[in-house]
Amino acid sequence: MPAFTASAPAKIILFGEHAVVYGRPAIAVPVQQVQARAVVIPDPLAPRGRVWIQAPEINLDCAVGELPEENPLRKLIQLLQEHFQIDHLPACILRVSSTIPVAAGLGSGAAISVACLRALSAFLGAPLPVEHVSDLAYEIEKIYHGTPSGIDNTVVAYDRPVYFVHGQPIEFLSVGQPLTLVIGDSGRRSPTSEPVGALRQAWLANSVPYEELFDRVGEIARSARANLETGSLLHLGNLMDENHTLLVQMGVSSPELDHLVAAAHTAGALGAKLSGGGWGGNMIALVEPELAEQVSAALLQSGATHTLITQVRP
Ligand code: MEV
Repeated sequence: MPAFTASAPAKIILFGEHAVVYGRPAIAVPVQQVQARAVVIPDPLAPRGRVWIQAPEINLDCAVGELPEENPLRKLIQLLQEHFQIDHLPACILRVSSTIPVAAGLGSGAAISVACLRALSAFLGAPLPVEHVSDLAYEIEKIYHGTPSGIDNTVVAYDRPVYFVHGQPIEFLSVGQPLTLVIGDSGRRSPTSEPVGALRQAWLANSVPYEELFDRVGEIARSARANLETGSLLHLGNLMDENHTLLVQMGVSSPELDHLVAAAHTAGALGAKLSGGGWGGNMIALVEPELAEQVSAALLQSGATHTLITQVRP
């Protein structure tokens, strides 16, 4: 019996996280080195409609109906049934695995959703077009944190660099020159909902200073877009630094992330910032290709639990 397999990449946000939740532009790129994977195996001898989930990394080995209502995988199956207007899926086993660290700002939730939606819709004989994959994954993102901008599901589903503004047509970016980035994991896990929720509370209490910060981040993202297209690395590095300073002012950085950002500079990075929700997770450093290993080693020496070197190509 054939199995249906799909995978989806991780992502990093180059510019504009958090401000993007408040309508400002942001730029994100896929990261191929780590991936989520879903495999659907038809299970015709199982009771009618039973979807059995196996996700050993999160200790799941049960029927989807046994999961709590708000479980993202349960919600995903429900959304698929509604989308295809069916009462149940044919019985199957859904195996989910991922090399993307969880709660680390790398879009692991979105990647798992995208991989599962693709594998399950292929199993149903009706592979979903990318825009539907992204839209359904967005609905699931709402479980991870109540007010997602939609950037994670978009960059992961389309698997291309995006310039994203919530509610506006997606714009794809082409870079003028390859970008080499070192991604450093602070080792601290931080679900996106936590910094996003705290920032929302602060904004609700006193929106004016935060709106100013978001405006400045929006300007940085616009300027970064132009510099990405022309390939002006030095300027991009400076913009990353400015963006990090504004994220610190929003209260979403952490001592570990600030320490890694400083270490990247000392080792010769052109610029560095936290990436994603913050309070933990990953930071990124823009580097000249020949300095990538040096910056990576400096990050590991400064407490990063893991590093990845990635390139964004024209
Ligand atoms: C998370 O990857 C990026 C945030 O801006 C949240 C969002 O856009 O939904 C922090």
